[in-house]
Amino acid sequence: MCSIKVLFIFAAGISFCKGLRDICNVEPKDVYIEVGASVQIVCQSSCVSGNIFWTLNDKPVSENLTHSFNSTHVLSLRNFTNTKATLQCYSSLNHQALGGTIIKTFTRPKNVSCVLYYKTQSSGVPDSFTCRWDHQTSPSLKIKYTVFMGTTSENLREICSSQVTNCTTGQIFNLIDDYFVTVRAKTSAWETDSDPYMFATEDIIKIAPPVVTVTPSSDRLLVEWTVHLSFSQLKCPCQVKYSKALLPNNETPELVSVTVQNLSIKEVESCRNYTVSVRCAQGVAPWSDWSPEKTILTKLNKRQIRLRMWRKVAAEGEDGKRKVHLMWTGIPSTCDESLNYTIKQTSYTKNKIVGNYTHASCGSPACDVEVDQHAHKLFLTMSNDEGLIVEKSVYVPAKEESLPQITDIQTSEREGDIQVSWMAPAQPVSGYIIDWTHNGKQYNWMRSAFTNATLFDLVNRTEYNITVTPLLEDRTGRSSEALQICSSRGVPENVVIRDVQTSNTGALVNWHTESRYPCSGVVSFTVLYEMQNGPLLNVTVDGTKHDIFLKDLQPGTQYSVSVEAKGHDGTTTSRNSFFITQKFDPRLLKVLTACGSILVLLVLFLLLCCAIKWRKFMEKPIPNPGLSSVAKWLSQNHHKKAWFFQPFTHHPENICDQVFTEETRRANTSSLAPTGYGNKASQHSDEYCDPSATLASDESSEPTETQRLSSPEESISSFSTESSSINPYRSQSSAEISMPRSDKLSQGDSGRAQEKTAPKCVYVSLNMLEQGNVR
Ligand SMILES: *[C@@H]1O[C@H](CO)[C@@H](O)[C@H](O)[C@H]1NC(C)=O
Ligand SMILES: *[C@@H]1O[C@H](CO)[C@@H](O)[C@H](O)[C@H]1NC(C)=O
Ligand SMILES: *[C@@H]1O[C@H](CO)[C@@H](O)[C@H](O)[C@H]1NC(C)=O
Ligand SMILES: *[C@@H]1O[C@H](CO)[C@@H](O)[C@H](O)[C@H]1NC(C)=O
Ligand SMILES: *[C@@H]1O[C@H](CO)[C@@H](O)[C@H](O)[C@H]1NC(C)=O
Ligand SMILES: *[C@@H]1O[C@H](CO)[C@@H](O)[C@H](O)[C@H]1NC(C)=O
Ligand SMILES: *[C@@H]1O[C@H](CO)[C@@H](O)[C@H](O)[C@H]1NC(C)=O
Ligand SMILES: *[C@@H]1O[C@H](CO)[C@@H](O)[C@H](O)[C@H]1NC(C)=O
Ligand SMILES: *[C@@H]1O[C@H](CO)[C@@H](O)[C@H](O)[C@H]1NC(C)=O
Ligand SMILES: *[C@@H]1O[C@H](CO)[C@@H](O)[C@H](O)[C@H]1NC(C)=O
Ligand SMILES: *[C@@H]1O[C@H](CO)[C@@H](O)[C@H](O)[C@H]1NC(C)=O
Ligand SMILES: *[C@@H]1O[C@H](CO)[C@@H](O)[C@H](O)[C@H]1NC(C)=O
Repeated sequence: MCSIKVLFIFAAGISFCKGLRDICNVEPKDVYIEVGASVQIVCQSSCVSGNIFWTLNDKPVSENLTHSFNSTHVLSLRNFTNTKATLQCYSSLNHQALGGTIIKTFTRPKNVSCVLYYKTQSSGVPDSFTCRWDHQTSPSLKIKYTVFMGTTSENLREICSSQVTNCTTGQIFNLIDDYFVTVRAKTSAWETDSDPYMFATEDIIKIAPPVVTVTPSSDRLLVEWTVHLSFSQLKCPCQVKYSKALLPNNETPELVSVTVQNLSIKEVESCRNYTVSVRCAQGVAPWSDWSPEKTILTKLNKRQIRLRMWRKVAAEGEDGKRKVHLMWTGIPSTCDESLNYTIKQTSYTKNKIVGNYTHASCGSPACDVEVDQHAHKLFLTMSNDEGLIVEKSVYVPAKEESLPQITDIQTSEREGDIQVSWMAPAQPVSGYIIDWTHNGKQYNWMRSAFTNATLFDLVNRTEYNITVTPLLEDRTGRSSEALQICSSRGVPENVVIRDVQTSNTGALVNWHTESRYPCSGVVSFTVLYEMQNGPLLNVTVDGTKHDIFLKDLQPGTQYSVSVEAKGHDGTTTSRNSFFITQKFDPRLLKVLTACGSILVLLVLFLLLCCAIKWRKFMEKPIPNPGLSSVAKWLSQNHHKKAWFFQPFTHHPENICDQVFTEETRRANTSSLAPTGYGNKASQHSDEYCDPSATLASDESSEPTETQRLSSPEESISSFSTESSSINPYRSQSSAEISMPRSDKLSQGDSGRAQEKTAPKCVYVSLNMLEQGNVR
C-alpha cells in the first residue's frame, strides 16, 4: 500500500512538474513555536488541480482551519501544544502528498524567583544574588540561560548565565528598591525570553542565620538568639527546631514558630543531649538558613524522677551483721556525675523510726550496707548542688520478725518470658515485689498488685532465681524464693551418635546431646537414614529418647544415619554416621557358632580318642613277666577279717579293693593321706577298682576274683592255684613281694595271710605295664 503510494507520488511528481513547471510545497519547514502559540503553514498546490487537505500526525485536520486563495492554502493552528508534530498537505484529488513540515514547541522560562542574601558576611549589603526559574524542556536539549537585571524593565543588563535553571552573581554593589529580571533561554534552533519579573528588595532579602545561645536549667532549656535585619522596621518571624540528639531517623524534630527572639523549651528529658537550631525571616522574605545546630545536655528534672528502690538482704554473717544490697532505678545514668547519693540507716521498732541514724555515701545505682538482726528502715537521699532532690525508703525486717509470707510459688517459662504466680498470705498486703537475677549481681524487680507477674527481657537460656516479697503498709513481708528456672531452652549445639548396633534387618542407633548452656532442651529427635541411592527415611521420637531401633533395613547394606534435634529455637543435626547391616541374622549366627563349636569340640574329642587309641595301639604294652610279682590270693575269711581290721580311715581303699600298679603304689606311699580316695581317683586307680567285684568276692565264697583291665581283650584274669601250673608266668618268684609297695597290702594283707591260711589264689601285680598305657 505504502510502496504503491510512493510510486504513485513519484510518477505524478515527474509528469506534473515536467509538464507544467508548477510548484507544490509546504512552507515553512522545521517550525519552533512556544507552547500554546499559533502558527500558520502554507501549502502551494500549483502542481495539482483541485482542493487539498491536511494531516497532523496522520490525522486529518478540520477543513475550516484552512483559507485557500487559488492554489495557495494557509492553515492556521491555534493553541498548539504538541511538543512535536508532523504536518502534511495532500491533494484531495488523488491523495498525492504535496509536502510537509515538522512543528516543534518550546516553553518559556517561568516562575522566576530571586533572592538577595549574605554568603560571606552577615550584615550590610547582601553579597549574593540568585535567581531560579522553571523551564520544561527535554533533558537532552542543551540550553544556555542568561539572566538580565535592571532597575526598570527596559534597562536590563546581563548579570549571569548558566546551563541549569538557576544562576548566582556576587556583583551586588548597592541596594535598590526594586529589581526587574528576565531570563532568556537559547538553543541553536530557538530563543525565548521569560516575562519580566519585578521584586521588591525587602521581599527578597534573606537574612543571615541567627546567632543562638541555649541555657539548660533544672526543668527547661532556654533558647535565645540575635538577628541582623536590613530593614529593622519589619517584623521578624522565627522558627526553632529541636530534638533529642541521635534521634532515630523516623522521628521528626519539633518545630516552634515565634515572633520574639527567645524560647523556653519545657518538655525535655532529664540528662539528654538536645540539638537546637533557629532560623528567621525578614517580613515576607525567604527564611534564613538554619543556624548551626547547638547540642546541649539537659539537667535532671525533679518532676520527672520515678525512683524505684529495692533491697536484697543476705543471710546473717558470723559477726551477726546482715548485708543489705540496695539498688534503685529511675535516674538516667547520664545524670549521675552531678548527683550525690546518701544512705540513711535507721532502727525501726513498732512501726516507728527510733533514731540512731548512720549515713553512708554511695555510688549508683546500687549500694551495700550492713545492718544487725533488728528491723531497719533505709533511706536513700539524692542531692545535687542545688540541694535534696528525692528521698526514698525501704524496710529491712528483723531476723526473727513474724511477717506475712506468700506460699505455693509457681514458675513457668513461655517464649523466653517467665511467668510467676503464688498464693497470697492470709494477712492483707498492699502488693508484691518480684525480683529476679541470673548471676546474683544484676537484679531486676517489679511491683505487682496481683498474685502473678510476667518477667520480660530475660537473657536467653539462663537460669533465674526469683523471689517474691509481699508489701505491707510501710514494711515488707518475708521473701520466698522460687526454684531456679530457665528463661528459655535452646536446642543443644551438638548431637553425637554414640554407636550403632546392627542386625541383619535392623540397627539400634544411640545418641546423646552436648551443650555449653545449662538450659537446653529438645522437643523431638528425627533420625534420618538412607542407603546409597535410596530414599531418605526418617523416624521422629520425642526429646526424652536417646535411642531408636531402625527396622526394615536391608541385610549387608551400608547406611548413613544422622540425628536431628529440634528445639524451640532451631535444629541441630549430628554428623553422618555410617553402618553396615549384617548379612545374616545374628541369632542364627549364634546358633551356628554354638553348633560349630560343639562340632569342633566333638571332632577334637574324637581326634583325641583316636590319638589315644592309636598311641595305645602303637605302644601296646608287652607285659614283662620279669616285672610282675606273684602273691597268694587271700582267702575270703582272711580277706573279710583283714577288711574289718582295716583302720576306719582306710575304708575307701577297702571298698575299692584294688590292684595297684607299682607306679601308683610308689607315688601313693609318700603322700598317702587317710582320705586318699580322691588322690587315687586322680591317678585312674579306679580303673583297677571294681567295688562290685570286691563285693561279689565278699558275698560268694568264690575264691577267684576277676580283675579287669581297661580293654577287655587285654584283661588278665587272676588265676587260681589250680591253674598256676599252666600259668605262663610260672617262672616268676614270690620274692617279688618284697618290692616296695603299699605297707597295708604287702605287710598287712599278704603277711598275715601267709601266716594263717593256705593261699588259695595269687594275684599278679601288673607293674610291668607302663602307667600311661592304662586308662
Ligand atoms: C470548524 O468546524 C468545526 C466542526 O467541524 C466546528 O466545531 C468549529 O467551530 C469550526 N471552527 C471554525 C473556526 O469555524
Ligand atoms: C486567482 O486566479 C484568477 C484567475 O484564475 C486570477 O485572476 C487571480 O488574480 C488569482 N488570484 C491570485 C491571488 O493569485
Ligand atoms: C489551549 O489548549 C489547552 C489544552 O489543550 C487548553 O487548556 C487551553 O485553554 C487552550 N488555550 C486556548 C487559548 O485555547
Ligand atoms: C515557583 O517556584 C517556586 C520555587 O522556586 C515553587 O515553590 C513554586 O511551586 C513554583 N510555582 C509554580 C507555579 O511552579
Ligand atoms: C542550581 O541548579 C542545580 C541543578 O538543578 C542545583 O544542583 C543547584 O543546587 C542549584 N543552585 C542553587 C543555588 O539553587
Ligand atoms: C552529649 O554530647 C556530648 C558531645 O556533644 C557528648 O560528649 C556526651 O557524651 C553526650 N551526652 C549524652 C548523654 O548523650
Ligand atoms: C546507736 O548507735 C550507737 C553507736 O553507733 C550504739 O552504741 C547505740 O546502741 C545505738 N542505739 C540504738 C538505739 O540503736
Ligand atoms: C557530693 O558530696 C561531696 C561530699 O559529700 C561534695 O563535696 C560534693 O560537692 C557533692 N556534690 C554535689 C553535686 O552535691
Ligand atoms: C539461685 O538458687 C540456687 C538454689 O535454688 C542457689 O544454689 C544459687 O546460689 C542461687 N543463685 C543466685 C545467684 O542467687
Ligand atoms: C494476673 O492475673 C490476672 C487475673 O488473675 C490477669 O488479669 C492478669 O493479666 C495477670 N497478670 C499477669 C502479668 O500475668
Ligand atoms: C535469644 O533468643 C532470640 C529468639 O529465640 C534470638 O533472636 C536471640 O538472638 C537470642 N539471643 C541470644 C543472645 O542468644
Ligand atoms: C520424614 O518423612 C516424611 C514421609 O515419610 C516426610 O513427609 C517428611 O518430610 C520427612 N521429614 C524430614 C525431616 O525429612
